[in-house]
Amino acid sequence: MLSILLLPLILCSSYASSQILYPPQYTTNRIVGGEDAAEGVAPYQISLQGVGSGLHSCGGAIIDERWIITAAHCTRGKQAAGFRVLTGTQDLQQNASRYYYPDKIVEHSDYAPRKYRNDIALLHLNESIVFDNATQPVELDHEALVPGSRLLLTGWGTLSLGGEVPSRLQSLEVTYVPFEQCRAAHDNSSRVDIGHVCTFNDKGRGACHGDSGGPLVHNGKLVALVNWGMPCAKGYPDAHASIAYYHDFIRTHLSLSKTDSLDENLEEIMKGKNEDYSI
Ligand SMILES: *[C@@H]1O[C@H](CO)[C@@H](O)[C@H](O)[C@H]1NC(C)=O
Ligand SMILES: *[C@@H]1O[C@H](CO)[C@@H](O)[C@H](O)[C@H]1NC(C)=O
Ligand SMILES: *[C@@H]1O[C@H](CO)[C@@H](O)[C@H](O)[C@H]1NC(C)=O
Ligand SMILES: *[C@@H]1O[C@H](CO)[C@@H](O)[C@H](O)[C@H]1NC(C)=O
Repeated sequence: MLSILLLPLILCSSYASSQILYPPQYTTNRIVGGEDAAEGVAPYQISLQGVGSGLHSCGGAIIDERWIITAAHCTRGKQAAGFRVLTGTQDLQQNASRYYYPDKIVEHSDYAPRKYRNDIALLHLNESIVFDNATQPVELDHEALVPGSRLLLTGWGTLSLGGEVPSRLQSLEVTYVPFEQCRAAHDNSSRVDIGHVCTFNDKGRGACHGDSGGPLVHNGKLVALVNWGMPCAKGYPDAHASIAYYHDFIRTHLSLSKTDSLDENLEEIMKGKNEDYSI
């Protein structure tokens, strides 16, 4: 625990060392400068948790009754059976909310952790989510953002550097930063690529992360998932996986699974028919 807390302090001493932080594996500071999210503001928000520990590890969003979307670095090296997904609550302590269980993880096939690229993954659930007021899928945004667009970032995170993890979901408005400007701000590093949506926290503080995999929404539609940033470095925009850029990846897997289940249904129907005929 101690080393986790100390790491950001060491890393933030210089950007020149090219260190980048993935929240929350290496840092406990996530949304800093946020506030308690308004009731019902993010019914698509989920908490990805260890099934054994019950601890919150990453954020994510519901995009379909069977699918959750998050960052690939949240699922890397782990089995689907190691996770549970908490839905329908903005309070981690609330007992009335529902858990769902993934049976498959689909990581982007070109996920390149060292290059910070294609950091996006889908989790397929073993049963369909029951939607209600507090639990809803989010629509995917395909439109290009204009510079200065305001995005809503939500997640559970500490309220200040090294602070406690709140049980209440936090929200923060951040400003979209275009690709060229973002890359230039990162000394033209190739770590920032066109698959990223960058944002700046205009509260002017260095640290402004949501949870890894956590949703950024514009006009009620999902535009990005938290990827990486530099918590202690003032003025460097954070980078998130762009939903528009990964649209094909998402759609392909969602429609493939629908086709699969259609095939299964068809098989069952055919089986039923055969049995009928054999009687
Ligand atoms: C949830 O349940 C736990 C243990 O069953 C209890 O300690 C806690 O107070 C409950 N929380 C709420 C918000 O009811
Ligand atoms: C889904 O997985 C969980 C955990 O393994 C299990 O308890 C539950 O029964 C499963 N649900 C279905 C519909 O298979
Ligand atoms: C759900 O939404 C309906 C219609 O907007 C409202 O009447 C109801 O009070 C809501 N229920 C909860 C639990 O928020
Ligand atoms: C980044 O690239 C732009 C355009 O090629 C150039 O004008 C700028 O000086 C570069 N900045 C750094 C820090 O290398």
